[in-house]
Amino acid sequence: MGMNATAPRFAPAVLTGESEDNFSKLAADFFIARLETLKSPLVALPTGNTPLGLYRALVTDHGHRRDLWDQMRFLALDEYIGLPQNDPRLFYGWLCREFLDRAGIPDKNRVFFQSDAADPAAEAQRIEEWLRQNGPIDLAVLGLGTNGHIAFNEPGSGFDQPAHVVALTADSITANAGYWGSAESVPKTAMTLGLGNLATARQTLLLVNGAHKAAMLARVLHGPVTVDVPATYLRTIPNVTIITDRAALSAP
Ligand code: GLP
Repeated sequence: MGMNATAPRFAPAVLTGESEDNFSKLAADFFIARLETLKSPLVALPTGNTPLGLYRALVTDHGHRRDLWDQMRFLALDEYIGLPQNDPRLFYGWLCREFLDRAGIPDKNRVFFQSDAADPAAEAQRIEEWLRQNGPIDLAVLGLGTNGHIAFNEPGSGFDQPAHVVALTADSITANAGYWGSAESVPKTAMTLGLGNLATARQTLLLVNGAHKAAMLARVLHGPVTVDVPATYLRTIPNVTIITDRAALSAP
């Protein structure tokens, strides 16, 4: 065990979909099953390509569940800093378009970091305080960065951090360049929930698909638990489920 490593305490449950459709359906069924019995559950939501199928399945297969959509509360995991709040490339715009608007989630049940806040550190603190008063998160839905990041907790992020401002790593800027047209256009800083916030979630669902995530998923499941791979914090908390497709499990 290296200097930064801690002992794993829990093993996440892993469910694997045989096809892309099945991956998304598994995720949507898990989401509904874990939340439908709770009163006004708080759900943390990721952006990216990975959860697109989940969001589609929630709207097409479960869109009629007004009883759920009228009371669930949603908190975005992270946001870029410094753009006007109506910029369609922000995570805010992305989540509204892909899910919240389609499911008809009331505005009062959407909580976001404001990209254009004058003082981003104070904005991160506002979300921290909101979570202290309105939390804990009932279900944290997460994607995995190819560098092991969770939300924008980049390699080296402490497992106990609160919501905070981050400088994005070159890896994350490259990985997100596609959404921005070029790497130069990707904002260099962001606000994110910390791993400390996410670690207190009652349930956690990590979604991982594609062969390009296989090597990192293998490290998350079997490598040393270390801040160098932020997603390994998942082996220090209970009630974690990982839903994958076949390709994501294809590491040698
Ligand atoms: C961004 C987000 C993460 C997300 C990651 C993976 O970096 N901050 O929350 O998990 O992208 O995106 P994708 O699902 O497109 O691989």
